[in-house]
Amino acid sequence: MPTTHDDPVHQAAASVLGDDAADAVSALARHSRGVLATVLTHASVRAFGPDPLPDDVEDALQAALVRGPTSSALHSYTHVLVRDPERKRRMAQLAGNQRWIDQAPLLIVGCADLRRAREVTHAQGYTYTAHDLRMLISATADLTVGLQNASLTAQSLGYGTVMLGGVLNGSLEIAQALGLPERVVPLVGLSVGRPGAGHRPALRPRLPLPLLVRHETWSLDPDDEAALIDRHDEQTRAARDFEGRRIPWPEMGVGGDDPIADGDYGWREHTARKQGRASWRPQGAKVDVDLPAQGLRVRGTGEVDG
Ligand SMILES: Cc1cc2nc3c(=O)[nH]c(=O)nc-3n(C[C@H](O)[C@H](O)[C@H](O)COP(=O)(O)O)c2cc1C
Repeated sequence: MPTTHDDPVHQAAASVLGDDAADAVSALARHSRGVLATVLTHASVRAFGPDPLPDDVEDALQAALVRGPTSSALHSYTHVLVRDPERKRRMAQLAGNQRWIDQAPLLIVGCADLRRAREVTHAQGYTYTAHDLRMLISATADLTVGLQNASLTAQSLGYGTVMLGGVLNGSLEIAQALGLPERVVPLVGLSVGRPGAGHRPALRPRLPLPLLVRHETWSLDPDDEAALIDRHDEQTRAARDFEGRRIPWPEMGVGGDDPIADGDYGWREHTARKQGRASWRPQGAKVDVDLPAQGLRVRGTGEVDG
């Protein structure tokens, strides 16, 4: 059967590859047992119905969380599944008042686990010489692999998901509320549930592929980079992709009125505001305090734990 341009897989492929390559990729999708279609048509969901997940779906998610690759077979993560409404409400507050965490029947709290392997090392009678910052980076990769696999599994079964970096902002408090031991650190969450009635998230735009994927070497001319960013910015302004998520001007902490007119707020301004807002500073300082308070040595001193 030929693919058509109103095929969602074709549209998703075309949004990053262009029409010609998308023809071939969407044809290929028919041989990928649904994987390519699920991957390419991903869109985050932020409105959920209340129904709990059936047991078999939850079991599939648990299997997906742990069947992915894990750095050095260390399994340096622990995922905590939260279904209890009261506990979930608390998590929603602590992760930046994100109401969809509260709404979705399941929250998975992905935690870097720098405890288990250290305990084993000590129990075997060795000094723990691993470096916490290095381990935190590989633990983050481990747990993100699991969450993404769970997310794709859920989406392949008709459920919706949203990844939750906001968990890091409440890491210490979330760890306390979940009774986590020292060195088990909540970093990223995933909400899962049936999309709310009538809610069908649209495919969201991506930066042009040459900015995000290179071949062999860096090989990107600065003028080309600027032109590609301009192009993306214009498209997101025209489509008003970020208007609904505009970072309020007072958050920039510079006073006066918002200089960006309605309709002129695109990817470039949103990115700059996200990274430049005054409210960002305390969040950074909080991570600096939270991670050591959870027993990690992450100041890059090169120290090791005796
Ligand atoms: C590591 C990570 C953290 C994220 N954190 C949040 C979050 O805290 N809240 C949220 O609503 N979306 C969060 N997202 C979802 C992104 O906002 C979303 O993926 C992005 O806007 C692109 O939209 P799409 O996923 O629909 O294509 C996160 C995504 C990733 C990968």
